[in-house]
Amino acid sequence: MLKSPLYGVLGTALVAGAVLIPGSSAQAVESPDISVTNAKAHLDQFQSIATSNGGNRYTGRPGYLASANWVKSKLDAAGYTTVLQSFSTSAGTSYNVIAEWPHGDANHVVMAGSHLDSVSSGPGINDNGTGSAGVLETALAYAASGQVAKNRLRFGFWGAEELGLLGSKYYVNNLPAADRDKIELYLNFDMIGSPNPGYFVYNDNPAGNGARDDLTSYFTSKSIQTEYVDVQGRSDHAAFRSLGIATAGTFSGAEGTKTSAQATKWGGTAGQAYDPCYHRSCDNINNLNLTSLDRQIDAIGHMIWNYAQKEYGDPEPPTGDNLIKNPGFESGAVNWTGTTGVITNSSSKPARTGTYKAWLQGNGRSSTENIGQSVAIPAAATAASLSFWIRIDTTETTSSTVYDTVKVQVVDGSTTTTLATYSNLNKSTSYVQKTLNVLAYKGKTVTVKFLGQEDSSLQTSFVIDDVALIGG
Ligand code: PHE
Ligand code: ZN
Ligand code: ZN
Ligand code: CA
Repeated sequence: MLKSPLYGVLGTALVAGAVLIPGSSAQAVESPDISVTNAKAHLDQFQSIATSNGGNRYTGRPGYLASANWVKSKLDAAGYTTVLQSFSTSAGTSYNVIAEWPHGDANHVVMAGSHLDSVSSGPGINDNGTGSAGVLETALAYAASGQVAKNRLRFGFWGAEELGLLGSKYYVNNLPAADRDKIELYLNFDMIGSPNPGYFVYNDNPAGNGARDDLTSYFTSKSIQTEYVDVQGRSDHAAFRSLGIATAGTFSGAEGTKTSAQATKWGGTAGQAYDPCYHRSCDNINNLNLTSLDRQIDAIGHMIWNYAQKEYGDPEPPTGDNLIKNPGFESGAVNWTGTTGVITNSSSKPARTGTYKAWLQGNGRSSTENIGQSVAIPAAATAASLSFWIRIDTTETTSSTVYDTVKVQVVDGSTTTTLATYSNLNKSTSYVQKTLNVLAYKGKTVTVKFLGQEDSSLQTSFVIDDVALIGG
């Protein structure tokens, strides 16, 4: 697709005029009509790639790399900054295509993604040509629209989802922590044109998940009834979710059976699978419901257009009450749980304020120690940060190898996320303040935890004082 410069200029002018209207909300972005004709043409391309490459687009086979190269070339031509990220799997080398729209505030990244690989038994047109075609067409339409993105848009096309979400896991595991923190939302689309479709909205992390609710309201505004579905570990959003990033997505159904109540509200055939060709050779270009595809790609467009303009607020530390009790440890172990003796007024280490502090490790032998406190982060918070002062002395090397560590963690139910790790390499015998973003946990009661670990010899002391969690 060629982008007309004139069209881009006119589009920009119109948008700029619109945002000058006093009192207009940044959220009130008109939803685009993402072309189902174009999305169907992308699916024809995936089918033809499969047909000329042994009938599939499976990891390690030529149909996969051909799909990745083709998607990348479309995005390159539209003005995206793209990367073909390779990684190895048991089935051979696989690739993620990552495309970023090089405009907007890079501190606030809004992502959408889909897996681009098929299973080995067929061309993978519904699973997941549809999600890929929908995300691709939305990205191309955005580039051509003249919209002026306030935030940074990034699109991911994942390899080796069918081998266990390998591409999305590889991507998040190789993102520096600072870059992870900038991702405000990840939207996932895996199977959105099922031949006997349902209209499902992911219900993974319901607490305060505005994106999930926005998808639901969007469908409601189009008189399309939805159901929530728990897809926890079954697609690529899981990798993002495990980092505490907000996720949402839609799904038209796989091997599950449509009930008669669902056939009444959605049409189609009760007692039959949403996709009878799921993971089979017949998941080809005829295995589609284009009404489902059309509606769901418009939902992708709605979300991208709106979240591109969303106000993510001030990245500066928020002002408000400190939600940590006994934050400077002056009352001793009160309000804190964990290893006995860590909270101390020992004169061997200076406190930053008062006489008490939390002294983790410093044993010089293989050991772990921790302290933690449960905190309820308000659902209405628009910013939330965890800050503390840390002093690190050590007899280990301070130049090369990590031997002793302290991890700053958030425990959310059964999920523990490490926000930051400090080690003997971070030695500083004056207190240094650290600030970490915990807005992802708004609306939740979580435990903030400091976990120390030392190897068998040479001590490292991690001394922490004046902890604050401020959500406002
Ligand atoms: N990820 C599954 C697959 O590719 C499909 C799926 C998507 C299942 C979303 C449940 C929810 O086979
Ligand atoms: Zn699949
Ligand atoms: Zn899939
Ligand atoms: Ca103190």
